[in-house]
Amino acid sequence: MAGKIKLGVPNLLPHARRLRDSVTWGMRSRLPSWALRKRVDGKVVLITGASSGIGAGVARELAEAGATVLLTARSIETLQDLAASLRDDGYQAFAYRSDIADLDDCDRLCQKVLEEHGKVDILINNAGRSIRRSIIYSLERFHDYQRVMQLNYFGAIRVAINLIPQMIEQGEGHIINVSTVGVQNGVPRFSAYLGSKCALEGWTMAAQNELLHTGISFTLMNYPLVRTPMIAPTRIYDYFPAMSEKKAVAWMCDAIIRRPKRMVTPFGLFSLGMYYVLPKTAEFIVNTGYQIVPEKFSSGNKGTRNEATGDNPASNVRPMRKRSGS
Ligand SMILES: NC(=O)c1ccc[n+]([C@@H]2O[C@H](COP(=O)([O-])OP(=O)(O)OC[C@H]3O[C@@H](n4cnc5c(N)ncnc54)[C@H](OP(=O)(O)O)[C@@H]3O)[C@@H](O)[C@H]2O)c1
Repeated sequence: MAGKIKLGVPNLLPHARRLRDSVTWGMRSRLPSWALRKRVDGKVVLITGASSGIGAGVARELAEAGATVLLTARSIETLQDLAASLRDDGYQAFAYRSDIADLDDCDRLCQKVLEEHGKVDILINNAGRSIRRSIIYSLERFHDYQRVMQLNYFGAIRVAINLIPQMIEQGEGHIINVSTVGVQNGVPRFSAYLGSKCALEGWTMAAQNELLHTGISFTLMNYPLVRTPMIAPTRIYDYFPAMSEKKAVAWMCDAIIRRPKRMVTPFGLFSLGMYYVLPKTAEFIVNTGYQIVPEKFSSGNKGTRNEATGDNPASNVRPMRKRSGS
């Protein structure tokens, strides 16, 4: 005979609190500088990937708004310079070297910051790497997939998992996981990168639903192309519209103020709409674009060594045609 299943009693109070907070912080977000200060003043914020791009910009903005910012990345000198310049301006900033792709390093980092600061109120899982390489050029490079998973997925959730118990204990916390609009449009040549960000998104969506009643909020950031050092090696992006670093920082600050489940661009929503409403049309457009744009895209495109693949291909599609025997 089947045993009796004992159902839990849900605590609905956090849901009511969240509804109230959504309304009040939504209104406050119309005065962003004031609202940001109100949200982060006296809070401890851990920012991974703080040595460059979005992370470095967010660090300064949050420090100016009164947060204690804990900066981490591998380039310790850059972090120390940033922390020192923030402290010179009268703000609270501390630098920690860590390789987020190394899970033991993630554990050591979290242990150290908890020992030294007692808590982390906001975690910004921003450290990331991207690889632009077609699947047909990745057939002998399975490590591409493993490397991005290690940093963009395993490292990010390892840091979160280390900090969740303390956030539950204090009854509050905000974890922001940085993803990309690419997961909404399946941009070609980024299969490894998108796989890792999709994994991060899946984990985050489950975490949102599991931990809401503990007081921890999760936000996913589906950034569009942002003009940072990350995209600099991909020359074709010089010709694409991209969000400025300043706007990307403002986006993150808005997420900290309002704690939405997800930040998306209209283009991301449009891409998703196309995928569900006109899937084959969307595929036709994206695949045609993929075939037109060469694998390598440097100034002049003279068929020099490909910085993405290490190969020397004149066209992105030829190896695929050879393989299929056509
Ligand atoms: N730029 C874009 O177009 C774009 C679009 C969508 C999403 N994103 C996402 O936004 C986030 C920030 O990117 P960004 O554009 O600001 O790039 P970025 O300027 O290249 O910064 C990347 C940061 O990650 C750190 N990092 C890389 N590998 C690391 C590792 N193993 N351990 C610890 N830190 C590591 C880097 O520092 P060290 O090298 O010093 O370790 C650096 O601080 C990433 O998650 C990225 O996927 C970017």
